[in-house]
Amino acid sequence: MTAIKLPQQAQTLKKEKVLLTGGTGFVASHVLDSLVTNGYPVVVTVRSEEKGQRLLKSLSSFAAPEQVRYAIIPDISTKNAFDDILTRHQRDEPFTYVIHTASPYQLSFADPINDCLNPAINGTTYLLDSIHRLCPFVKRVVITSSSAAILNPPNHREVYNESSWSEVTWEQAMQPEHTYRASKKFAEQAAWSFLRDNNPRFTIATINNTYTFGPLSRSLTNSAQFSSAEVNTSNRRIWDLIHGKWRDASSGEACIPSTAPVFTFVDVRDVADAHLAALTAPGQRYYTVGGFFSNYQIARIVEEEFGEVLGSEVLPELKGQEDDFEEGKHWKFDVSRSKKELGIRYRGLRESVRDTVVSMLEFEKGTALN
Ligand SMILES: NC(=O)c1ccc[n+]([C@@H]2O[C@H](COP(=O)([O-])OP(=O)(O)OC[C@H]3O[C@@H](n4cnc5c(N)ncnc54)[C@H](OP(=O)(O)O)[C@@H]3O)[C@@H](O)[C@H]2O)c1
Repeated sequence: MTAIKLPQQAQTLKKEKVLLTGGTGFVASHVLDSLVTNGYPVVVTVRSEEKGQRLLKSLSSFAAPEQVRYAIIPDISTKNAFDDILTRHQRDEPFTYVIHTASPYQLSFADPINDCLNPAINGTTYLLDSIHRLCPFVKRVVITSSSAAILNPPNHREVYNESSWSEVTWEQAMQPEHTYRASKKFAEQAAWSFLRDNNPRFTIATINNTYTFGPLSRSLTNSAQFSSAEVNTSNRRIWDLIHGKWRDASSGEACIPSTAPVFTFVDVRDVADAHLAALTAPGQRYYTVGGFFSNYQIARIVEEEFGEVLGSEVLPELKGQEDDFEEGKHWKFDVSRSKKELGIRYRGLRESVRDTVVSMLEFEKGTALN
């Protein structure tokens, strides 16, 4: 089995320093890999000392000494949470760019407002406000939004692109199935409103990635310390599949969950490249989608690629199962802007699923190169 490839160390370091929020998250881990490989000095925000140390350790074999540092911000929804770190760095080497990925991403929240909406919305506006007040040299803030801010189920458009906006309401946001998608819409709207109302020196770009698969976050611990609870939300279905959860344990029958509501995916490494390219591309929204997928198609790929390794006691029997994706009846997506202006060449589903499974198996065996 191929080991997860380490990014190459950059030959020369750039001067433009980047602040990356949510550094231990799934998407951020890949953004950080791309930043390091491209020679950017980076300060990442993490929620605890332990997470910061873990992150540095995971980068030790390819980041240049001192290229990555961390700052602790336990909760981005605290007003002025970013002031201290921004002020400290402003004095010697100020930030040129900020990439804001931190935001709660789970399937449900006990307290929709405090656990999700506040950190997503206020976390974004407080960060923008601090940069506006304290960092005259920041040129661009790239915000990880989501396709959730674009799609409008159940009343879908025929074709979605960057001009599309979700119509989810604040009232719906209180219902668990709508909280996360509402948090992304309201957070992104708040960012564009901030720009309009305050006319700051910096500009913003948003990456509106859809359901994202790909190798696990580098900063997860491996070996005995690896805990499945740390697998990020969007990779969780692949984790479940390779741990026998799409197969009834007693009868052995396949029980593949419905793919709805989202049948589009993108690889996390393409999302990371989009964030980097958006540092210098026009300041606007970028919808990023690699293609359509279904749970059946994922199961089929895993069976073809890992059937022998995982065995028939784990994987569902696909004979007689139906694919719930109906291409002819499905809405379409137009990602020509991200291809043209960010230069993204999207990976296909097979590559994305294969590399995700490889990384999961290696993390479990404790052989991941982190
Ligand atoms: N994965 C996807 O399919 C997908 C698709 C579209 C958009 N996105 C967006 O991509 C971004 C990253 O998501 P992800 O998939 O990488 O999820 P993730 O692995 O859960 O990362 C989320 C990050 O945000 C941090 N965070 C959450 N709440 C926070 C708070 N109140 N204060 C400080 N930090 C906080 C988390 O820290 P801890 O882990 O320490 O709590 C973590 O580092 C999010 O904005 C998400 O909405 C993800």
